[in-house]
Formats: sequence, structure tokens, C-alpha cells
Amino acid sequence: MEIIDMPTSSTENSVQIKVSKIDKSRIEEVDFNNIPFGKIFSDHMFVVDYKDGQWNDPEIRPFGNLSLSPAISALHYGQAIFEGLKAYKDGSGNVSVFRPLDNHTRFNSSAKRMCMPTLPEGLFMDALNQLLTLDREWVPPVDGCALYIRPVMFATTAEIKVKTSEEFKFAIMTCPVGPYYPKPVRVVIETHFARAMEGGIGYAKAAGNYGAALYPAQQAQERGYDQLIWTDSKEHKYIEESGTMNIMFVIDGKLHTPSLETNTILEGITRDSVIRIAESKGIEVLERRILVEELVDYCRSGECTEAFGVGTAATLASIATIGYNGEDFDLPPIGDDSISTILMDELSNIRTGKIRDEYGWMMPIS
Ligand code: PLP
Ligand code: COI
Repeated sequence: MEIIDMPTSSTENSVQIKVSKIDKSRIEEVDFNNIPFGKIFSDHMFVVDYKDGQWNDPEIRPFGNLSLSPAISALHYGQAIFEGLKAYKDGSGNVSVFRPLDNHTRFNSSAKRMCMPTLPEGLFMDALNQLLTLDREWVPPVDGCALYIRPVMFATTAEIKVKTSEEFKFAIMTCPVGPYYPKPVRVVIETHFARAMEGGIGYAKAAGNYGAALYPAQQAQERGYDQLIWTDSKEHKYIEESGTMNIMFVIDGKLHTPSLETNTILEGITRDSVIRIAESKGIEVLERRILVEELVDYCRSGECTEAFGVGTAATLASIATIGYNGEDFDLPPIGDDSISTILMDELSNIRTGKIRDEYGWMMPIS
């Protein structure tokens, strides 16, 4: 294993990242035309520990297991947060990451809510840049595929007492991925379980939000659906989001999506990007509270012509069917001139450098 020290480019919290490279890459074992989501990890990972009020000894090393005490508080009390972002290759093989500063901002907002230390922007960006420089060959050169980047932070103080941890670990791992939902999804509006309540942690990308959603999602899957559409926890009257993505509807040619003011919905970076692209194309966007009954009426009358989820993993996932109270509403098939196709094409073209990135969303890897 080759060990080198690399200076970071940031002036803020300037640190050396120690780099230990793998002896032999595993990349030849990967079939980029057939990648299962999230099961294949690239050669290296970034790791840094928080102790005595600061981040110490950042390191890039071969992807592999960590050795941890079974008493660490993340395992018992759920002090754990994560992010999801993607890197893409353009036609000349250049690698860029989509909106990493926005993921960093959201990560720190999740950290504050979960009583965890924030991560300096320079450390986050330098870690990403150096990790992706090393593993750039792992960014799939295939349409519809990307390198999924998963930053995660968790509490590592080994103590059973319920209190905030003093020690934390932050890591970044990456996986080449294909589509999360390979075909249009069937979703069902949830009217019993809740994902998040006002005053809770719905807006944070906290691990517990996902753990708590598994049982309701499993129940929906047993009834033949792929995912849920969550509703508000008080009355189940308003649409919120889906399990892994924000949700949007095309009603009468306008784009409708739940607003964020309740703090129960993840403020999706894909959601924001799709809204901005839609507006640039003259499509009216309405961010508002959407009543379940109203949506069902629009589905019944045919005025709701498209529904889709938007998220980093999901990209833009078409919804084929919406279930509600035992009834299924099938939406018309999506065509080349559908609003969701137009939005998705524009987003993919920006990400893969086929059109100019007028928003400044892509961060090139040096
Ligand atoms: N909502 C939830 C619950 C998610 O897990 C995700 C995925 O990250 C999203 C929405 C979409 O967010 P983003 O577009 O930032 O990935
Ligand atoms: C993402 O889209 O990045 C997510 O985090 C959703 C899911 C894979 C948990």
C-alpha cells in the first residue's frame, strides 16, 4: 500500500489528508452496463474523526470495514446523519460533482438538529475532490449511470448514557450506480403511519427517518406498491413526499409540489433544480400544500397527467400508479413531449456536459 500526504487546497482549516492507496484496483471486476444500486464500492474511502472539539487525522484509505465498539451511541440512540450526491462524466471523460456545496449546507443543518459537530466546507470539498481524483475511473461512462457519493457521520463515544456524544466519525464512500427505480413506480398514499411531524426531524437527513419508514414501506410493498406517498402526521390530509424522493404532479400543464414550510419534508436538491429548470422553460410552478382529496379528484378527472419523484438516487422517477383507500389511479404513459421528460433531459444534459451549465451547478474534479 502506497502512503502519501496530500495538502488540501482550501485555506479554511487547511489540513493534510493522508492518502493510502490500494495495491490493485477492483475496477476490472465491475460490469458498468449492469450495476446494482449501492452494492459495489469503489477502491477508496475518506475517514476523519472528531475528538476534543476538532476534526483530526483526515485520511483516504482503501474501502473496508471499520472497527467500532458495540457501545457507540449511534447504534443505541441514533445520532447518525448522511448525504447523497452524484458525480458524472462528460463526453471527454471529465468528472464533475452536482451541487456539492448544497449537500454540504444540508449536512451541517442535519448535524445541528442532531446535536452533532458541523464539518468545515473546506474539509468536505477537499475530501470529495481528492477521493474522486483518485477514483475517477469509477465514474461510469454509461448514459443514465453515475458515481453515487455517500457522506455519513455518526456518534462514536462508547457510553450507554443518553447524552450527546463527544466523538464522531465522518466518512465518504462512493458507488457506481444505475437507476434506483429502473421502471415507472407504483406508489400508495399513506393514511395511517407518519414519516415526520412538525417540530421533529423530517427536514434532516437523519438515519432514524429511514429506519422508521421501513415497516410502513414493507406493508405497502406487500400490497404491490414500490413506495409510499407520505402525508402529514396530524390528519393525513396533505401530501408530503415519497420515501426516497420529493414528489411533483403535472396538473393542467402546471407543476405542483408540496411546499417546505412545515419542516417535515427533506429540502431536495433535485427538487430545487427541477423547479428552476421548469421556471426557465416558462412552466408555471406552484409550491403549496396539496390536499390528498384534491389530488385524488385530479387523478380521477384526468387533470393530473403526470406524477414523478425527484431525488439524487431516484433522479426523476415516473409514477405509473397512485393508490388511495383501496383504489388505484393509473396515469397516462410518459412520452417525448411530457413535462417530466423535458425536465429530466435538461437535467441529464447539464450533468453530463451536453449543454451549458448556466446555473453553476457542476463542480469539476481537478
Ligand atoms: N426526500 C427524501 C426522504 C430523500 O431521501 C431524498 C433523497 O435524498 C429526497 C427527498 C431528495 O433529495 P435530493 O434531491 O437532495 O437527493
Ligand atoms: C438519495 O437519493 O441520495 C437518498 O439518500 C435516497 C436513498 C437512497 C436513501
